[in-house]
Amino acid sequence: MATSLDSHDQPKGPASNPGNPSLRHGGPTDIAVRLEGVRKVFGDDAAGRRVARLIDSGGAAPIVAVDSVDLEVRDGEFFSMLGPSGSGKTTTLRMIAGFELPTAGRILLHGEDVTAVPPYDRDVNTVFQDYALFPHMTVGDNVAYGLVVRKVPKGERQDRVTDALRMVRLEGYEDRKPGQLSGGQRQRVALARALVNRPRVLLLDEPLGALDLKLREEMQIELKSIQQQVGITFIYVTHDQQEALTMSDRLAVFNQGRIEQLGSPADVYEHPATRFVAGFVGTSNLLTGDVAHAILGRRGSFTIRPEKIHLGEPSDQAGDDETAALGRIRDVVYLGPDTRYIVELDAGARLVVTQQNLATTSGEALAQQGNAVRLVWKRQHELAVSDGESGPMEEEGQG
Ligand SMILES: Nc1ncnc2c1ncn2[C@@H]1O[C@H](COP(=O)(O)OP(=O)(O)OP(=O)(O)O)[C@@H](O)[C@H]1O
Ligand SMILES: [Mg+2]
Repeated sequence: MATSLDSHDQPKGPASNPGNPSLRHGGPTDIAVRLEGVRKVFGDDAAGRRVARLIDSGGAAPIVAVDSVDLEVRDGEFFSMLGPSGSGKTTTLRMIAGFELPTAGRILLHGEDVTAVPPYDRDVNTVFQDYALFPHMTVGDNVAYGLVVRKVPKGERQDRVTDALRMVRLEGYEDRKPGQLSGGQRQRVALARALVNRPRVLLLDEPLGALDLKLREEMQIELKSIQQQVGITFIYVTHDQQEALTMSDRLAVFNQGRIEQLGSPADVYEHPATRFVAGFVGTSNLLTGDVAHAILGRRGSFTIRPEKIHLGEPSDQAGDDETAALGRIRDVVYLGPDTRYIVELDAGARLVVTQQNLATTSGEALAQQGNAVRLVWKRQHELAVSDGESGPMEEEGQG
């Protein structure tokens, strides 16, 4: 059974080999979290639900929020669940935390079936998007709260709070109230409040969602380095593909309650399995049907990443290992370091091309609108994608 959180008092410090369980918890498995055929239907599972916020469906059709999800998260891994709004990320996270009971399937934490175990008996902590700090309590008291509840002696409590605040670089802020902090600092307090419990698994639901872009990018790097430092398994929910690609060891792409693809950031970006993944993680740039046949000489659906396409003069020639397509620049979007060109192909599709502005000024880039061009790319960058009806893809089945 998941032991009380207090029992994990092993010294912190770099988890030099987070994949090796003997260095950390001595468990028999290096799988931290395992989901087996997990399904969640709202409005139809009165028999077995633990729902804090169920809204009576009023006779409406049940909602399948999560549909037969199989998943293994390794010990010490930074794992992300990426997907659009409503794709089932939060529901999956809440089932791992124990706030929702699956309609079907099993959840294992470090090899133990916790499907029916309440949240407070699971060795996990959750950081919510809205932080949920107590506004009337100081930073120190906010961070200490979980330890007070579990009656950790005062001296040890103080040490652990100091430790946790140092980890998130907020030493010296103990006596402030949340209202006296910036958004990024509040976010770090929320993180410290979870880390202080030393959970084996930390669940984070869009924790950076409320921050502006610059702060979010800083916190992404910081979160990742904290995770590497403490060696705790992080399961991170986001709808931001850039964030997931930046931070994760591996990620699962959710769509309509299912996992469409699971793999490393490079796997998922360089070998998207389905049209959905190609479009959600990156720019879709799809060639299908007759257009694919006309340009590539093949039938099927293909995607080409915008940065792999070279924008040239109509007279440019393609090499043996390359494909070329004539078109016209419809739109130019200047982005500072790069420019994005939207090109209407003569054969009938539209492709986005990004080029670094190595020597190009914004004026030169924008002046290209309306020009006839020849797009050239290497054949190896034509990625075949399925239409996604075949269900979830096997992990690391690609490339
Ligand atoms: N308590 C509930 N009662 C009924 N339906 C719910 C409940 N919670 C979630 N749903 C539905 O389940 C589906 C998945 O919701 P979920 O919150 O898991 O999505 P999400 O991927 O986290 O989306 P977002 O990015 O918007 O947070 C949605 O269709 C949602 O409306
Ligand atoms: Mg959500």
